[in-house]
Amino acid sequence: ETIHLSEYTPFGFLIDAVHLTFDLSPNATRVKSRIDFRPNPDATDSTFFLHGEKLTLIEARIDGTPVTPDITDTGLTCTVPDAPFTWEAEVEIDPANNTALEGLYMSGGMYCTQCEAEGFRKITYYPDRPDVMATFTVRINSNMPVLLSNGNPAGEGDGWAEWHDPWPKPAYLFALVAGHLVNHPDHFTTASGREVTLNIWVREGDAHKCAFGMEALKRSMTWDEEVYGREYDLDVFNIVAVDDFNMGAMENKGLNIFNSAAVLASPETATDGNFERIEAIIAHEYFHNWTGNRITCRDWFQLCLKEGLTVFRDAQFTADMRSAPVKRIGDVIDLRARQFPEDQGPLSHPVRPDRYQEINNFYTATVYEKGAEVISMLKRLVGDDAYKNALDLYFDRHDGQACTIEDWLQVFEDATERDLTQFKRWYTQSGTPHLTVAEDWADGTYTLTFTQSTPPDANQSDKLPQVLPIAVGLLSPNGDETVPTTLLEMTEATQSFTFDGLSSRPVPSILRDFSAPVVLDRESSASEQAFLLAHDTDPFTRWDAGRNLARDTLIAMVTEGAAPQGAYLDGLAAVLRDTSLDPAYRALILALPSASELAQALDARGTVPDPDAIHDAQETLRQTLAEKLQDALPGLYAAHQVDGPYSPDAASAGHRSLANAVLSLITRLDSGAQAQTQFDGADNMTQQLAAFGCLLQAKRGEDAIAAFYDQWQADRLVIDKWFSMQVIFAAPDAAASTAAALTRHPDFDVKNPNRFRATLGGLAMNHAGFHRADGSGYALLADWLITLDDLNPQTTARMCAAFQTWARYDEGRKAHARAQMERILAKPDLSRDTSEMITRILKA
Ligand code: ARG
Ligand code: ZN
Repeated sequence: ETIHLSEYTPFGFLIDAVHLTFDLSPNATRVKSRIDFRPNPDATDSTFFLHGEKLTLIEARIDGTPVTPDITDTGLTCTVPDAPFTWEAEVEIDPANNTALEGLYMSGGMYCTQCEAEGFRKITYYPDRPDVMATFTVRINSNMPVLLSNGNPAGEGDGWAEWHDPWPKPAYLFALVAGHLVNHPDHFTTASGREVTLNIWVREGDAHKCAFGMEALKRSMTWDEEVYGREYDLDVFNIVAVDDFNMGAMENKGLNIFNSAAVLASPETATDGNFERIEAIIAHEYFHNWTGNRITCRDWFQLCLKEGLTVFRDAQFTADMRSAPVKRIGDVIDLRARQFPEDQGPLSHPVRPDRYQEINNFYTATVYEKGAEVISMLKRLVGDDAYKNALDLYFDRHDGQACTIEDWLQVFEDATERDLTQFKRWYTQSGTPHLTVAEDWADGTYTLTFTQSTPPDANQSDKLPQVLPIAVGLLSPNGDETVPTTLLEMTEATQSFTFDGLSSRPVPSILRDFSAPVVLDRESSASEQAFLLAHDTDPFTRWDAGRNLARDTLIAMVTEGAAPQGAYLDGLAAVLRDTSLDPAYRALILALPSASELAQALDARGTVPDPDAIHDAQETLRQTLAEKLQDALPGLYAAHQVDGPYSPDAASAGHRSLANAVLSLITRLDSGAQAQTQFDGADNMTQQLAAFGCLLQAKRGEDAIAAFYDQWQADRLVIDKWFSMQVIFAAPDAAASTAAALTRHPDFDVKNPNRFRATLGGLAMNHAGFHRADGSGYALLADWLITLDDLNPQTTARMCAAFQTWARYDEGRKAHARAQMERILAKPDLSRDTSEMITRILKA
C-alpha cells in the first residue's frame, strides 16, 4: 500500500495531555494510557483511529466507561463523543522479544525505546503521526535503579519515577530508558541563566568513554546559542548509550538515545574518525531540539525539513570546530559515494518524496545529505545575513508547530523578497543535474556557457532546469587569481556569463566549495587539472582537480591498459612536499577515488565496469605512487608522528591521517615491516587500526588478527572493527569466504546491527569482493538478509541498498544479482520494508 503526500488530512482530534504508566517486565510490560482528546475544529474527517501494532489490549475506556473497539493489525477504531473526552487503555507488550528494535525493546539487560518514525504505535494505541502534539507525563514502575523519560523529573521513590515534559511533542519523540546504568554528569548554564544538568548514561564499564561526548555536547550547546541564538529549554539533558540500535542516534526530547558506537570513545578504543563522527552526531541530535522538536514535521514526507536543516547545521558546527575545507571535502566524498548512486539509480527520489510504502526506507542520503546541500545553496543564494534573518523568522513564526517545506520556503520568501518558485524544484525533482561547460575567449572577454540537464527517471520523465549557484574563480596562466570567487546564478537550461577586461585567457576554477550538488562534466586536459592542483586558491576545487586527475588516469588504466599518468604523479608529489598545506588536506589529496566511484564514472561514460580491472588498476597505481614517492615517504612518515598523550583534536588527527596514508604506501615497499612496528607499539586506536589495515592489505595479518582479538575481545565496539577490517581488506577472491567464516565466529550476533553491518556491510564495501563474477558475494549477503528480515526489517531493508548499482555490471553479474534479489523477494512473510526496497531496486 502506497501513501501519498497529496492525501494529507489533519487528524480529527487534538490532544491536551497524555499520561502514561509503565509497569516494566521483560515479556509482559503493561502500558496504561490516559489521553484527553477534543474534536479538531480544522479537521473534516472525524474518524477516531488510533495506530497500534503488536499490542494486546487488556481494556479500554472512554470517560471511565469500558468500550470494545474494532481492532486490526494496524490499529483500532471506536465510536467517541462529539465533545472532549478521556481515553484510557491498558495494553501488554513483550520488549524482550522485540528484535526489530522499534518501540520498547531490551538491549543488554536495559529497557529502551526507538519511536521515530512509527514505533510509538508498538507501545500503545495512539495517533502516531507527527502533526499530533501533546504534553506527556510518564510514570515508570520498575526495580531498575535508573528510570528515565522525556522532560523534567517530577518525582521518584522506591521502584518508581515520574517525568513531565512541558513541551508539546509528537509521539515519535517519546523515550523511556530503564536499567543498571552509571552516569557521567556535568552541567551547563544557558545564556539566559538556566542551569541544566547534563548526563551521559552508560553500562558499568563504559564510564571512562563519556568525557569526549560530554565536551562535544557542551560545545554544541554554546555554538547553537552563539550562531543560531537557540537555548536549551529543560532542566536536564540526558544521553543514553545502547548497544543494539538501528541507526546512529535519536533526538528524543531531553533524552537522546545513542547507538553506543556514536557516543562512546576513549583514545585506546576509538579512532580519530570515530571522535569526529561522535562530535558531529552529538551536535546533530542536540541541534534537533530546535530544528525537529520545537519545530517538527507535519507528516513524514517533510522529513528533510528537520533532517536536511539539522545536517546542514551540524556541518557548519564541525567546520567551525575543525577545518572547514577538510569537512567540506569529506562531505563531498560522502555525497558522491552514497547520494549520487542513489539519485542516479533505481532508488532515486526527491529530497521531499511524494510517496512511500515504508517511511523507514526514506531515511536516505538524499533526504539527509542532499537535503543539507539544498539549504547550503539557499544560504549561498540569499547571503549570510538574509539566511540569519530567515532563520530567526522561522523560529519565531513556527515554534511549537508541525510544518512543511512550503512553510520553510515561505519564510525565506518573506525575509528576502525572493521568488523561490523555481528553487523549490530542488525539493520536488529527483536526480543529479549534469552540468557541461563551453568556453569562449575573444578581445579580453571570457565567456562561460553552462548547460544543465537531468536524466529522466521514474519520478519525472521531463526534468526542468534547477537554480544553480555556481561559484567560479579565474586564474591567469602564471597562477595568479585574476577574478576571485564570484557566484553565478544559473536558472536556464543554457546560460552564458562573461568576464571582461582580462589580459590573457584565464583558467577557470568552477564549482568552488562544491556550490551545487551536480555532476560537472567538463572536458579538461590533464595539464589544466595539474595546473589547478598546483595553483587553485579554493581548497575544494584544488582537491577536486587532483581527484579528476586520479580518476582519469585510473579510467585510462582500466579501459586502455595505459600507464599511470605523469601529470598526476608529479602533481601529487608536489602537493605532498608542500609543507604550507594542512596535513589533513594533503592526506585527502593522496587518497584515490574509491572503486565504486570509478565504477560509477565508467558507467557514466557508457563502459560496463569490471570490478577486478578496477581493483587491479588501483593496486597498480598505489604501487606506482609508492615507488615514485619512495624517497620522500620515510621523512614524511617521521615528520607527522604525533608525540605526547593522544588528543583527538583536528590538528593532531591531521598529522596522523597523513602519516597513516604514507604508511600504507610504505607497506607496498617494505611488505609491512613498518606497519608491524606501528601495530606493536601503538597506544591509541587510530595508530593501531591503521597499521592493522596495512598488515591485512600486505597479507601478513594473521598474527595481528589474533593479537587484536586477544587484546580487545571484551570491547564490543573494537571487535566490530575487527570484524569489518578483515572483510574490507580481504582480497577480492577471499572477501565472501572471510565474511562467511566470521558469521560463524562465536562473537557474531545477527541481532546486533553494529555487528551485522560490520560483517555483511563490510562485504558490501569490498567492491571487487562483493561484485564477484561467480555471484558468491551477492549470495552470501542475500542469505543473511533473508535471515535478518524476520528479526529486524529496518536494518535488512537498509542493507538492500548494496544491490542498488547492480544493473551497471555485466550480464553474468546482473543475472546473479537478479537471482539473489528474486530469492529475497520469494521469502515467505517478507517485511514491507525489504519488499519495497528490493522491488524498487529490481526496476533498474
Ligand atoms: N532522527 C534520527 C536522526 O536523524 C534518526 C532516526 C531514524 N530512525 C529510523 N528508524 N528511521 O538522528
Ligand atoms: Zn537527524
